[in-house]
Amino acid sequence: MKGVVLISGSGSNLQSIIDNASVIELNIEAVISNNSNAYGLQRAQKSNIPTHIIEHQSFASRAQFDQNLSQLIDQYTPEIIILAGFMRILTAEFTQKYAGKMLNIHPSLLPKFQGLNTHQRALDAGEKHHGASVHFVTSELDGGPIIAQSSVDILANDSAKSLAKRVLIEEHKLFPKVIHWYTQGRLTLNHHHATLDGQKL
Ligand code: GRF
Repeated sequence: MKGVVLISGSGSNLQSIIDNASVIELNIEAVISNNSNAYGLQRAQKSNIPTHIIEHQSFASRAQFDQNLSQLIDQYTPEIIILAGFMRILTAEFTQKYAGKMLNIHPSLLPKFQGLNTHQRALDAGEKHHGASVHFVTSELDGGPIIAQSSVDILANDSAKSLAKRVLIEEHKLFPKVIHWYTQGRLTLNHHHATLDGQKL
């Protein structure tokens, strides 16, 4: 299945998707970053995947940025759009256009800790467990139907950094697994919830 991956940073999730691409039956047609310094661009180039930089600072409005991003994505006619550490809030027009085709990974056990600094916030809240979630993207930030989660125990001596490191290891397993469900046609978005093999998740 043809996919486009959107990134903003290091791209370690992108790397895990690249490394598993043949197993999960995904052809990564392009990697698009809103940040020209994203290390993930180099990861894509090393794997001969076309890259694009589309800097949001160059656009007068969020809507204009999203329209241009959408035109770029559509050139590749992807069946799946993967947000792998893409740190931009998307307009409702954009998320509606790709409803049911766009997945995001978020570093928390949603619905807990939507938004930024999730690891520190989980520590500050005295949580016993933390983790990552993959969800369908809707207009609600980090609020779309959850597909799957992976959790880790929070240890007494954890810092945000040590916790982030363990959560990332989980992310690298979780995201390719969920993407594979999608490429196999097992995963759908139905009336505000996700289904796997026809069963509500
Ligand atoms: C990950 O923790 C992801 O869940 C979050 O941003 C981080 C991106 O890491 N949205 P990377 O760029 O994949 O290394």
